[in-house]
Amino acid sequence: MVNFCVQAAVLARLITKKRQDMDKKLEKAMNEQLSKEFYSAYLYVSMAAYFESENLAGFSHWMKMQAQEELLHAMKFFDFLNERSSKVILEAIDKPPYKFLSIDDVFKANLKHEQGVTGRINNLYATAQKVNDNATAIFLQWFINEQIEEEKNPVDILTKLKYVKDQPAGILILDKELAARPQPVLGPTAGNAA
Ligand SMILES: [Fe+2]
Ligand SMILES: [Fe+2]
Repeated sequence: MVNFCVQAAVLARLITKKRQDMDKKLEKAMNEQLSKEFYSAYLYVSMAAYFESENLAGFSHWMKMQAQEELLHAMKFFDFLNERSSKVILEAIDKPPYKFLSIDDVFKANLKHEQGVTGRINNLYATAQKVNDNATAIFLQWFINEQIEEEKNPVDILTKLKYVKDQPAGILILDKELAARPQPVLGPTAGNAA
């Protein structure tokens, strides 16, 4: 019994120590980013709703796939924080905008949002480096690369929209193209199996 108590105390100390592994400021910022990824999903569902109201099923599908991808991003943070024995604390998710003026307007908002996300990820990476948390820095490198695609996607679509110049035939061809976006599957990040 005594032996068991000693073992339990040692285990409790080890667990407590593990829980202190991540710098508190970094842990808070990682949690905030987790919630922001959920906001991204919320924003893209709102954009999909706009396209539904415009009867653009392909554009809506593309945004729904993007929203699903954001949920996977959020869960990467969730899994990583748990693997590090950090506490996951979810925050309230802001109401996303829902009034958009045009297709262009949506993708400009998409680009602006992703530029903001890139800035946040870069700040997180800098914080991880500052506190010598190499595992978190390596985990974040996946997101740094991902943000290249996240900014490129709306830029590519905005370029095509410029060529189309509001011609209905061109918009419908683009709608068909965007309808083919496959379900997102994310590759593994370092220290994160999914
Ligand atoms: Fe994301
Ligand atoms: Fe992506």
